[in-house]
Amino acid sequence: MNVMTSPVAAPVLKDTGLEILLSDGEPHYFNYYWLRDNCPSSFNSATRERSFDIFHLDTAPKAKTAEVTGDVLAITWESEDHVTRFPLAWLEAYKTPQRRPDPADLAREAWYGDHYPDVPRFSQPEVLADPALRARWIEALLVEGFVILTDMPNSDEGLTETAEMIGRVRPTFFGDYFDVRTHINPTNTAYTASALELHTDTPAEEHAPGVQFLHCRANTVEGGYSLYADGVAVANDFRARDPEGFKVLAETKVPFFCEHDTYDMRSRQTIIELDQHGEVSGLTISQHMLDISDVDQELLDSWYPAFCRFGKMLQEEKYMMTFLMKAGECMVFDNHRIVHGRAAYTAESGDRYLRGTYTDRAEMRSTYRALVSEGRFK
Ligand code: OGA
Ligand code: ZN
Repeated sequence: MNVMTSPVAAPVLKDTGLEILLSDGEPHYFNYYWLRDNCPSSFNSATRERSFDIFHLDTAPKAKTAEVTGDVLAITWESEDHVTRFPLAWLEAYKTPQRRPDPADLAREAWYGDHYPDVPRFSQPEVLADPALRARWIEALLVEGFVILTDMPNSDEGLTETAEMIGRVRPTFFGDYFDVRTHINPTNTAYTASALELHTDTPAEEHAPGVQFLHCRANTVEGGYSLYADGVAVANDFRARDPEGFKVLAETKVPFFCEHDTYDMRSRQTIIELDQHGEVSGLTISQHMLDISDVDQELLDSWYPAFCRFGKMLQEEKYMMTFLMKAGECMVFDNHRIVHGRAAYTAESGDRYLRGTYTDRAEMRSTYRALVSEGRFK
């Protein structure tokens, strides 16, 4: 006796799109423009870009026929001599509106003040030599936001080659690199021996750089302890403790500035940054670069107390990791997530020299995806 396979219902052609039954037995609607634009033949396998140009169609695309044979949907078009073929499995992935799965969209793990012994550490020459280890390094940055590289070469090039494992060096208005040591005419609190309050760097830039590298070249002074806290850990606890305060800090853009003889940078940022899922993804905070607020004075009645409650919470011992950087280490961290600062030091007591640079968060995610996934075209 023959086993009859159930007949596949023909797609229903409508004016602007077609309806097709997929594996859940439900009809799913696909728009004709979308089907034509994403026809597998629309892409060039060498450039991996779309070579079809939908602007060149004279009339709106409309299916003349559509039929399913085996596991392929074939469409012919009314005003084009062209057949589009889609594997049904491919259509399944797009039947409900949702973002393409992203290997770099990893859940963040919050960390607290006692985290120092558990900070992920990687030897720079090993990371340089091994792409799999590089993926683990970047993964730790995506998940925890803070990683220490050890065994750094004692050279400027060492920092460049390190940053370039993640992306291009991302200049700020201070240039491609910055040197943190006491300057004779400091333009910045960092370039003195004073304490540096917890902050994220260059908040006055419209898009502050995403990943920061601080390469410790010398640290023999008295004092100068590094302070680091996980903005995600603090903001998530703040959300539970003080939902109203959280809301006002996540929704109100406030002005930041950075001004000296030759520059006058300004931006507006929320103190707490949320991602596409509504989860805390970072902070922008800097007491010394917060501009004179020009938001509604009555809004400040709630904003300022919330800002102070949050700022005090950032400094709680529960969150603050305190340690001394060692020459040969490079702190690598998410500049939007991790707040950092330092205790004052005695300039004459020895040498303290950090060289820093940045890359961008989006480039970090891009490099990670390329290291761990196949992509759409391979
Ligand atoms: C900076 C900074 C930290 C330090 O330069 O922005 O945070 O330990 N420096 O000096
Ligand atoms: Zn800084």
